[in-house]
Amino acid sequence: MKATAEAGANIALLKYWGVRDENLNLPLNSSISITLDRARTTTTVAFDPTLDEDQLELDGQPAPEAARTRVHRHLEHLRRLAGTGWQAQVVSQNNFPTGAGIASSASGFAALTVAAAAALGLELSSRELSRLARLGSGSACRSLFGGYVEWVAGTDDASSYAHPLAPPEHWPLHDLIAVVAGGHKAISSAQGHSLAPSSPLCAARVAAVERAMPIVRAALQARDLRALGPLVEQDAIAMHAVMMTSHPALFYWLPETLRVMLAIRKWREEGLAAYFTIDAGPNVHVLCEEAESPEIERRLQSLPGVRRVLHNRPGPGPHVIASENRAT
Ligand code: PMV
Repeated sequence: MKATAEAGANIALLKYWGVRDENLNLPLNSSISITLDRARTTTTVAFDPTLDEDQLELDGQPAPEAARTRVHRHLEHLRRLAGTGWQAQVVSQNNFPTGAGIASSASGFAALTVAAAAALGLELSSRELSRLARLGSGSACRSLFGGYVEWVAGTDDASSYAHPLAPPEHWPLHDLIAVVAGGHKAISSAQGHSLAPSSPLCAARVAAVERAMPIVRAALQARDLRALGPLVEQDAIAMHAVMMTSHPALFYWLPETLRVMLAIRKWREEGLAAYFTIDAGPNVHVLCEEAESPEIERRLQSLPGVRRVLHNRPGPGPHVIASENRAT
């Protein structure tokens, strides 16, 4: 009862920020993301009747207690479906630099869900796996698919899941991640999602996202970055405005974050099609077309405060690398 799976992180174009149900991770709004090809997690889950409790190793180190508890809670959902009480040894490795401030919860919970289901011999559809991954980390439900993905907010556990909008080869948009700081964020996104409704701007942003949704879908289908980019930037700024006006207020930007944002606006005036988005951290994701990517990468690397630039494209969905279980 052992399996290994890998899954990609994702960057949201229209973001998930705020939950209406904290236990089920039911979001306030639908969201759209790109699954990344290089920022990926590989996870092995081995269920073992001799273990007293779940064990977790992250990037070669025993994981902190909070992470182990979160993984334990997640595995309980899968054990319940399989009718087993066996605890598991979980070994998880990110192939992107750890401590670079790149969120790994989406790829982590997607890989964990797929590996655990394979190890238990559960035959689940991608939609069922997406719903399960959502319980671990909301954005993980989008990493169950490759390319361009939409998470339909839904109203309950059964109706909140992701589905693919277009495969990775539909449009090779580049995501250049300007890393301005490493380390872990002080406030977890789980805490942030609960605080979001305390912002007076939250309801207005949720309404704006729902209005932007069909326009973003159409821009993706048409591969139209000049239509997509302004909506992506506006939602990233709106999400951070919600964060900054929550009680207590959350600030994820650093001075370097704003410096990169302003540089991109200036480059656009010079004719380059580059647009930014920012998750719950200080690093800036820059979206651009393949042809302009080398020039934009060169410019990003020369900005003061940018420590490194990580380069991603749309990537595939998760897959099981190896599996041994009762069913095989
Ligand atoms: O899945 P979580 O709880 O890590 O939330 C992710 C939130 C953002 O990355 C900020 C936005 C998103 O939609 O991915």
